[in-house]
Amino acid sequence: ITEHQITNDGHLLIGGVDTTKLASEYGTPLYAYDISIIRNQITHFKTIFEKADVKYQISYASKAFAILAMYQLINKENIHCDVVSEGELYTAKQAGFPMDKVSFHGNNKSVQELTMALDQKIGCIIIDNFYELDLLKQLTQERQQSINVMIRVTPGISAHTHEYISTGQEDSKFGFDLNSGQADKALEQILAAPYLKMLGAHCHIGSQIFATAGFVGAAEKMMDLLIHWQADFDFTATVLNLGGGFGIQYTDDEKPLAPEVFITSIIEEVKQLSATNNFPCPEIWIEPGRSIVGSAGISLYTVGSQKTIPNVRDYVAVDGGMGDNIRPALYEAKYETVLANKMNEPATHKVSVAGKYCESGDMLAWDQILPTTTAGDLLAVLDTGAYGYSMASNYNRNPRPAVVFCDEGESKLVVNRETTEDLIKLDLPLE
Ligand code: LLP
Repeated sequence: ITEHQITNDGHLLIGGVDTTKLASEYGTPLYAYDISIIRNQITHFKTIFEKADVKYQISYASKAFAILAMYQLINKENIHCDVVSEGELYTAKQAGFPMDKVSFHGNNKSVQELTMALDQKIGCIIIDNFYELDLLKQLTQERQQSINVMIRVTPGISAHTHEYISTGQEDSKFGFDLNSGQADKALEQILAAPYLKMLGAHCHIGSQIFATAGFVGAAEKMMDLLIHWQADFDFTATVLNLGGGFGIQYTDDEKPLAPEVFITSIIEEVKQLSATNNFPCPEIWIEPGRSIVGSAGISLYTVGSQKTIPNVRDYVAVDGGMGDNIRPALYEAKYETVLANKMNEPATHKVSVAGKYCESGDMLAWDQILPTTTAGDLLAVLDTGAYGYSMASNYNRNPRPAVVFCDEGESKLVVNRETTEDLIKLDLPLE
């Protein structure tokens, strides 16, 4: 869990800004980011590759948090990004993100999405299946336009994470199957397609992964594939994209490995297999999402009603919940919370933090040890920077919170709070 600084009067700071000031200026619920954490994390990733002296590319998996200001921040750090929809591509485009640094993912890209990718001349399309391959062959032929492609492969690796966020196992909706030869068939078709420029292969084994074994296993299988492609198809891949999924620490009980442990183990495996097989070491691409933004964000809420069930549990309800953070309800995700206006007070009470949505499953955190809570207190859920805002909904017709970026004691609003008028903007009256 990310440690943020505290003022003398016991207020939590984020990016040097007093969270109680953020709450009074922008209201709650509010997502607040310390953007120096994002920048440092990117620099950290870069340093690991630079030290290992390999060609690499870091592509931010923008699904973790995709807003204009984020694409702009990422662009300033000079890395790539990947998108999975027309909406993400559009946002990146509007943010001025260079289109040649964008990769497009997804297991059912529409003709409209593929056309947009071609119109924008994006860097690379990661082809997921034969249907998409046919569409792309047709479209590029009609337009007589070349595009870089990779294929996504399912390496048959179990990542040991929640099954909803595990993607590398053979029985997965994503990618070409390795064992039954689908990946080879796809390669043959791509090599025969005049407008498809094949870069290499991609896999992504899952998210919030805590062990290196899955990555090393995937790297090995993928290298085997590339070596086989060279031997049997006379095609030498230049890129090996091993996806994202590096876990972060959400609670005290979790002990994720540092990114350098994951990445170094991947690099070593790829280097070694290249050397022993006399294969030119491919460029290694990674696609971190959560590990770039997760620890940079917090969610701020105002405490309202409380309920004590004697000898059972104390509930503290806040003004947000599953609409702004679906992860506890969807994945039983655990978070740590603090009382942002009472950081100096002793934490003596065990409470469970409930949201305001009409569902029993709408809980943000269970069994938190906090100072005595009263209505009006400011509660912060930590490490909500990834898959919080990006998975937010208007369930129960609650407007989505605002987002603010904080850095060196200054705050900047980067997403407006939704209004109730916004909520009916697309609705049409019956008569
Ligand atoms: N690359 C691909 C192809 C992906 O599908 C994903 C995530 C990533 C990269 C980035 O993974 P990360 O580094 O963020 O773990 N909503 C879930 C996570 C779903 C991840 C989907 N794909 C959650 O809140 O835990």
